[in-house]
Amino acid sequence: MARAAKKITVTGAAGNIAYSLLWRIASGEVYGPDTPVILNLLEIPQALPATEGVAMELMDSAFLLLRGIEVTGDPAVAFDGTSAAFLVGAKPRTQGQERGDLLAANGKIFGPQGAAINEHAAEDVRVVVVGNPANTNALIAQQAAPDVPAERFTALMRLDHNRALAQLSRRLEVPSAEIEKMVVWGNHSATQFPDLTYATAVGQPVAPQVEREWYLEEFTPRVAKRGAEIIEVRGKSSAASAASAAVDHMRDWIHGTESWATAAVVSDGSYDVPEGLVFGFPTVAREGRWEIVEGLELSDFQRERIAANVAELQAEREAVAHLLAG
Ligand code: NAD
Ligand code: LMR
Repeated sequence: MARAAKKITVTGAAGNIAYSLLWRIASGEVYGPDTPVILNLLEIPQALPATEGVAMELMDSAFLLLRGIEVTGDPAVAFDGTSAAFLVGAKPRTQGQERGDLLAANGKIFGPQGAAINEHAAEDVRVVVVGNPANTNALIAQQAAPDVPAERFTALMRLDHNRALAQLSRRLEVPSAEIEKMVVWGNHSATQFPDLTYATAVGQPVAPQVEREWYLEEFTPRVAKRGAEIIEVRGKSSAASAASAAVDHMRDWIHGTESWATAAVVSDGSYDVPEGLVFGFPTVAREGRWEIVEGLELSDFQRERIAANVAELQAEREAVAHLLAG
């Protein structure tokens, strides 16, 4: 018997990321090939005509699983009955800016959206925040949704994870599918900590296979500053790779992971990350939930890098204290 359709909300639906993301969702990559989907597209008023055009193109793609499209400027409509919310709509940075510089412009978007999710979303709602600075925007949305379990709010750090896999795959000349137990701790910012301590490639530990100097001087900055590199080379911030990572994140959350993946989730205090911060952890998805991989031994080096991310996220939280509920 056919499954019931799932409602999926994408904000910033006329933007660059959405132009890739919507097609991936409509083709069934998030809920799978047996689940029809209804797309709710949220935009600001000025971008609603362009969003109608996006909806026309989606219609013209004749997706077998697409059962409806709603274009709206009203968060109450956009999040009504939604099971998966991709909060993409926000300003991207330009050359020379850090993602944290967007907090003043973008932070205020996420409280009202969190509140609308609280009021109108389906009971099984899952939220991934893509709009930057993603971790703190996710915190703002989560705090505005007191009736939704905090674990349903996440921020996208799968793009950082995928970038790290790609760099390592190239360096070791192994397919990224053969690399496991890699994690990017912390914030989706240049401070992030791509960690190879536990990583294996084709079942063999990675750390002895790469020089410390390559790890510190090439790999880490390349991964952590890849967003800026894309902006410099492409002239615009990453879009298709961000959409792809968002699909990876939501699909794995729903269907489960075989191995570790990085997800930024609301901290439960693990690894001395203060409770409540939205932080990139080593995670596995089981039975529809992201679980932090527990019990890892941390070296002084790891503790220091994690603490730097905690400090940055605490500073961001202080900067948006006026936007946080309670
Ligand atoms: P874009 O400018 O092409 O599109 C953003 C869209 O959001 C615009 O159409 C705009 O009208 C819309 N928007 C703005 N405020 C809105 C609101 N309140 N409600 C609904 N829609 C709204 O930008 P983009 O390239 O699609 O990037 C979107 C965001 O994603 C940026 O903040 C970017 O920095 C971020 N990003 C994050 C990651 C990540 O890994 N977390 C990766 C890439 C980009
Ligand atoms: C990315 O990592 O590509 C995005 O966060 C966009 C950016 O500003 O770097």
